[in-house]
Amino acid sequence: MTNPNKALWEKGDFTRIAAAMRESGDALVESLGVGPGMAVLDVGCGDGTTALPAAQRGAEVLGVDIAENLVAAGNARAAAAGLGNLRFEQGDASNLAGLADGSFDLVVSIFGAMFAPRPFEVARELVRVTRPGGRIVMGNWIPGDPTLVAQVLRISAAYAPPPPEGFVSPVSWGIAANVVERFGAAGIDAAHIACEPASYVFVADMPPAEFFETFRAFYGPTMNAFDAAAASGRAEALADELRALFEAQNRGGPERTEIPAIYLKVVVTRG
Ligand SMILES: C[S@@+](CC[C@H](N)C(=O)[O-])C[C@H]1O[C@@H](n2cnc3c(N)ncnc32)[C@H](O)[C@@H]1O
Repeated sequence: MTNPNKALWEKGDFTRIAAAMRESGDALVESLGVGPGMAVLDVGCGDGTTALPAAQRGAEVLGVDIAENLVAAGNARAAAAGLGNLRFEQGDASNLAGLADGSFDLVVSIFGAMFAPRPFEVARELVRVTRPGGRIVMGNWIPGDPTLVAQVLRISAAYAPPPPEGFVSPVSWGIAANVVERFGAAGIDAAHIACEPASYVFVADMPPAEFFETFRAFYGPTMNAFDAAAASGRAEALADELRALFEAQNRGGPERTEIPAIYLKVVVTRG
């Protein structure tokens, strides 16, 4: 049976978007104090925007992602960087079968686990594999936020067919009360959960309209929206709306993309 979640991310090539996220990924990992002797799990890791800098700082790192193409891309990056302490494997954030209880000091999931179905199971799995005293750090796009990715997801969803019944929106992870409820059900006291807005900057050496074309060609959720919009003759309207968004949010000048995007940074400490 096809897994629509897996198909969505294997449809495009997220490495093309991730290339614009390396600086913020590195800065985030630096801020988390990752170093030798730490066991780090990166869930929904893509091709390693946060996993690779964690390994470069000496941690033993495992990246898990639903998409086979991104797992392969991550392993290729690890080999190219000569990092024997970095490994990627296929897996699902809502069922981290094969990973032992309490086996990681730090579990990171930046715009990753938020896209998995069954958020309560995701929270339970993230908690289960974290060692007592360890941390979980999530980055989640925020519904209704006016900056880039929340708006790309909102606009794309408006053109895509209605989701199946029972579908829980990924951006529901961007609301602190949901985060507290989900981790609460996994046994974490609200006092051990901190949520605050933070920023990721998309940086690309191309004009913002060209960077938008990268999303159109390679970002699964936007690709699906374009398929649906094309079927109803609305592809150009969608393109116009998204191109205007990228141009309005750009801070890099006419030839360069530099677009900050706000997300909810969640830090959970496992007692
Ligand atoms: C927006 S990308 C972010 C990738 C990476 N964390 C980064 O910051 O570049 C979302 C990632 O989550 C992965 N993903 C989606 N659903 C997943 C699931 N159920 N289990 C594991 N990974 C998942 C996708 O394959 C994709 O790599």
